[in-house]
Amino acid sequence: MAEIGKDIHKAIDFLLAGKLVAIPTETVYGLAANALNESAVAGIFEAKNRPHFDPLIIHISHIDQLSLYAKNIPARAIELAEQYWPGPLTLVLPKTSLIPDLVSSGLDTVGIRMPNHPLTLELLKNLEYPLAAPSANPFGYVSPTRASHVNDQLGNKIDYILDGGPCQMGLESTIIGFDQEENPQILRLGALSIEDINNSLAGKIRLNLNQHSNPLAPGQLDSHYSPQKRMFMIEDSNIPDEFFRNPKVVFLRFQHPLIQEASGEQWFLSPEGNFKEAAANLFHYLRELDRSSAEIIVAEPAPTIGLGLAINDRLYRASKKL
Ligand code: TXA
Ligand code: MG
Repeated sequence: MAEIGKDIHKAIDFLLAGKLVAIPTETVYGLAANALNESAVAGIFEAKNRPHFDPLIIHISHIDQLSLYAKNIPARAIELAEQYWPGPLTLVLPKTSLIPDLVSSGLDTVGIRMPNHPLTLELLKNLEYPLAAPSANPFGYVSPTRASHVNDQLGNKIDYILDGGPCQMGLESTIIGFDQEENPQILRLGALSIEDINNSLAGKIRLNLNQHSNPLAPGQLDSHYSPQKRMFMIEDSNIPDEFFRNPKVVFLRFQHPLIQEASGEQWFLSPEGNFKEAAANLFHYLRELDRSSAEIIVAEPAPTIGLGLAINDRLYRASKKL
């Protein structure tokens, strides 16, 4: 098992030696290595069993570092970074030659964000390079939102887990790229809502979510964030009676009230229907349900506004099997 602690200097030593360190962010825990050290980055792919065609996000601690790793940056990218960094926004921008091809999976763009977590920001400020970090879970499984989640699955493959407590947001960053005309488009739904983005940009942002499996952006594979258990995402009115009768079926509800006719357990992402609370609980609940004696998970979709869209995206992919 990995060592778990809050010692930034220990983390720095491991990173300097080209080792992997799990880091807390406001979204999910990341599995970090020196982004400019190709063999350290290769270790990330190996530990996660991640296909090499799936590019990594790099993490920086100051907006000034953007121009070291990205070029031809659209004005609107700067505006968004100024408004939302540090925070759950990843910008996909043309990369400079400092970024190894392994990080970008051979694409000429790189995903960059400034995470909003005091420990990780402090760590980044002490480094002379950005950290490449995907979510710290085996490829395709549910993302980790606590140090113990990382240890459960990757503990024997990494040296140190920097423990920053439970992740505040619990959903990965929203990813925004730019088309030829420099118009922003959302490539992945996440912890920054579309409504917030639209409020800060003149006009509505386009979605380009690669709804179907696309090897260029495998975070968008239909099956992702998946527990081992069978899982279905079903509107209440379509739940078959046999699920209500089966005590091994657990209902993952977005909010109250209870379904009266259900014999299995009912879990509530947020009893009062608070999106932030629901997002923060989502991956933890999926992991707990996966460990429980439940045989089937039946998830209720969230209302389709605000963070509900990203929550439903994760529930949908969690319920798909490869
Ligand atoms: O909140 C987050 O973004 C977390 C924390 C650790 O920062 N990271 C995260 O990384 O979710 P990961 O590797 O699980 O997802 C990264 C996704 C890739 O699967 C890919 O879809 C997209 O980001 N991505 C990265 N670089 C890209 C690029 N150059 N072009 C298009 N998509 C890119
Ligand atoms: Mg991931």
